[in-house]
Amino acid sequence: MNIIFATQNEHKVKEIKNLLGNQVEIISLSDIGLKEDIPETASTIEGNSLLKAQFVWDKYGISCFADDTGLEIDFLNGEPGVYSARYAGIPKNDDANIHKVLLNLNNSNERKARFKTIITLVMRGDIYKFTGIVDGVIGNTKKGVNGFGYDPIFYPENNLKTFAEMTLEEKNKYSHRARAFKQLKDFLHLKQ
Ligand code: IMP
Repeated sequence: MNIIFATQNEHKVKEIKNLLGNQVEIISLSDIGLKEDIPETASTIEGNSLLKAQFVWDKYGISCFADDTGLEIDFLNGEPGVYSARYAGIPKNDDANIHKVLLNLNNSNERKARFKTIITLVMRGDIYKFTGIVDGVIGNTKKGVNGFGYDPIFYPENNLKTFAEMTLEEKNKYSHRARAFKQLKDFLHLKQ
């Protein structure tokens, strides 16, 4: 089975190929000659995930999936959410985003948050959605050097280490993205 993964992020393509094994052939956007970013103009994580997958299906007629992730912080009414990548503005900057989150939390004790990944698969025109969530809390300062994005300030539930203090293997035991992709993987196996 051939499936397009709608991302310009080659690192993600590699990760996903590894995760899904060789039962499905993953084709990246650059493999099909699409160089531009698909505009993420929806107002929700779900919406952007669907928009990217649907764009490719409409244009190429090949089954396609796309992922979108956001960090939702209760005290900030779900922010940065769909704006996670560019919370502190464009060009996106992880340090500036973390700084803005800590500033807005204003030393509050209410620090509950979650990462949410939504994968949308458009297969032969039908739409399927897979969600991966990890609950946690936001720390007071940055800890650890691994990972990316908000990893240095995110403690997954019942953990004394931030994602940035974990190896990728450890992080993937809890991670939103790994959980969502596990569902996609199970679904694709069922289909074979
Ligand atoms: P994307 O939809 O996967 O590109 O994620 C959007 C933004 O969410 C990223 O630019 C990061 O700021 C943040 N993010 C996504 N996944 C993670 C993660 O695993 N750790 C930390 N931050 C993440």
